[in-house]
Amino acid sequence: MADTSAGHALPVSVGPAASQGARAAMPVTPGIRIEGLTKRYGEGDTAVDALRGVDLSVAPGEVVGLIGPSGSGKSTLLKSLGAVIEPTAGRMWLGNDLIYDNGWQIGDLRALRRDRIGFVFQAPYLIPFLDVTDNVALLPMLAGRSNDESRRQARELLAVLDVAHRASAMPSQLSGGEQQRVAIARALVNRPPVILADEPTAPLDSERALTVIRILGQMARQFSTAIIVVTHDEKIIPTFKRIYYIRDGRTHEEAGEGRDPVAGD
Ligand SMILES: Nc1ncnc2c1ncn2[C@@H]1O[C@H](COP(=O)(O)OP(=O)(O)OP(=O)(O)O)[C@@H](O)[C@H]1O
Ligand SMILES: [Mg+2]
Repeated sequence: MADTSAGHALPVSVGPAASQGARAAMPVTPGIRIEGLTKRYGEGDTAVDALRGVDLSVAPGEVVGLIGPSGSGKSTLLKSLGAVIEPTAGRMWLGNDLIYDNGWQIGDLRALRRDRIGFVFQAPYLIPFLDVTDNVALLPMLAGRSNDESRRQARELLAVLDVAHRASAMPSQLSGGEQQRVAIARALVNRPPVILADEPTAPLDSERALTVIRILGQMARQFSTAIIVVTHDEKIIPTFKRIYYIRDGRTHEEAGEGRDPVAGD
């Protein structure tokens, strides 16, 4: 079992992922590393320097917070790391791979996004006409796995996230917290080394918000995922052990309180 320190042992630990979890205890290369990243939107007089030299690193198994005022560059940073937009300069690594060095070092950015990055958004964005299982199974299917194998993987993760009993339901039949757990299952299903979460708890009450953060922490440890959570949410900020503050396109790191995200009474 990867980790039971929070007293919430997960019901399953799956084959290769379990051994990844064991590896997380050894000195490892960061899951994500960013050095001197800059992003300029536009040119000339109207240019906006959204990132001005960002340094950041997140270890496999770690969840860090990214906090900053509106317009400080949070979404630009997540989108750069997620290969949704192209930075202007700097370097980014995923694991040992240098994916960006003043230009993309990877030819197939769609495959990079699909296989190596999981996104969790503020709204779950589930596909309304697919049931819960197929919402999660779609990504492995797109990655070329068989429908049976994809659905098996989906059900396995839905069980980990404690929504297996809703596997045949349609998204509209789920509560907000259940939908967000399905969205987390979808972000995890291809076992990406990185999850980027943009305000994942914003629509949730404090108990559910803390549950989502606890689950992200468990997933990070069990699957050796490096997770960045953008948030303004005062309820969850005390749960981070490390926080990157971003302002005017520059980050600085501070220790967080690292409280257990146990939903309070
Ligand atoms: N496509 C774009 N073209 C030009 N400027 C942009 C573009 N996207 C963002 N910006 C600018 O870059 C800066 C950083 O924006 P970004 O969206 O990264 O901020 P943010 O921290 O995510 O803010 P919020 O909390 O409001 O979502 C802002 O000044 C914004 O106006
Ligand atoms: Mg934003």
